Amino acid sequence: MKKMEQHLILGDSAEQLKQLKDNSVDLMATDPPYGISFMNKGWDKVLPPKDIWTECYRVLKPGSFIAVMSSPRSDVLYRMIKDLEDAGFDMSFSPILWTYHSGFPKASDTSKMIDKRLGAEREVVGKNPNERINKAEYTAYDLNGLKGELNITSSNTDLGKKYEGSKLGFQPKPAIEHIIIGMKPHGQKSYIDNVLNFEALPDNIKMTYPFIQVPKPAKKEKDLGLNGEEKKLDTGLNKGKKLNTSNGKDYTIPSRKNTHPTTKPVKLMSYIITLFTREGDWVLDPFLGSGTTGVAAKLINRNFIGIEREKEYMDIIKQRLSVSRTDLIKYFKGVIKDEQTKLDL
Ligand SMILES: C[S@@+](CC[C@H](N)C(=O)[O-])C[C@H]1O[C@@H](n2cnc3c(N)ncnc32)[C@H](O)[C@@H]1O
Repeated sequence: MKKMEQHLILGDSAEQLKQLKDNSVDLMATDPPYGISFMNKGWDKVLPPKDIWTECYRVLKPGSFIAVMSSPRSDVLYRMIKDLEDAGFDMSFSPILWTYHSGFPKASDTSKMIDKRLGAEREVVGKNPNERINKAEYTAYDLNGLKGELNITSSNTDLGKKYEGSKLGFQPKPAIEHIIIGMKPHGQKSYIDNVLNFEALPDNIKMTYPFIQVPKPAKKEKDLGLNGEEKKLDTGLNKGKKLNTSNGKDYTIPSRKNTHPTTKPVKLMSYIITLFTREGDWVLDPFLGSGTTGVAAKLINRNFIGIEREKEYMDIIKQRLSVSRTDLIKYFKGVIKDEQTKLDL
């Protein structure tokens, strides 16, 4: 089997994309900044400049697709879609929805807040059977995986009882991200190719499409190939805030080697790439983060170009991409069935 190429570029995509040839890439699969200052990260303060999407349009082959992850928040979604349309993309496609069955509600528990205001003790009525912390205050994505035992409490005040179960605000458990799909028009590629690509997905993924159900990646997956020190992730919540729960117990944020806060699952990116490309095609990610799109491209045998601006993340990317394809196949065995490559991975 022919060995695929992987090109990594450290720098700003606004500049670096200019090096790439017109009409040279078969898919752009990316997870850009959402402009919501996730975990106070500087790189997430604003949406990508429109020029980047214009450059992506130029380098994509006509008839090829762009798959862009986005927060489900309406303000983020509509701006992202508008920027892509302004760059020339045909946006008349339905999104794919990544669901991960975890996440933290962003609403506050009304009853608890009333009791707090009244200075009333709540009665412990049981233990939370779910090991994950699902306290309303902890909204950060990377607190996933924290283990602990939480008390389930009930109000002892009339007002608290009245509002038991009610949530303030309207940001329930997110548990979903959109993958916006656009196309560079005027292609010669046939829609039959797309049907055949779809058929290459594993049966369980085809069954729920356009919902792709994949859990967030485990620490082991994120750290695969990394050999540095484990570090505590700066979630933005550890600054001046004690991570303790209503029963007074402290929780520690697990350390890991991959310090990128928004690493996506390799499986998810493999399915996206499978949907829009064939073996040997070129995939581009101009917001590479910790390199997941590159790992997925290697796993399912696509050529890859990735751009990342932060040196700290580029070091992580290089280590993740140093894992041999054979070892990747071993690790992801049984999760990807790619008929195009005639491999039962
Ligand atoms: C949401 S993260 C991508 C995470 C990735 N999907 C993963 O699984 O690791 C977005 C990344 O884009 C990078 N970035 C933001 N603006 C950029 C730009 N103009 N050029 C290159 N990289 C940029 C940030 O440093 C960040 O690592």
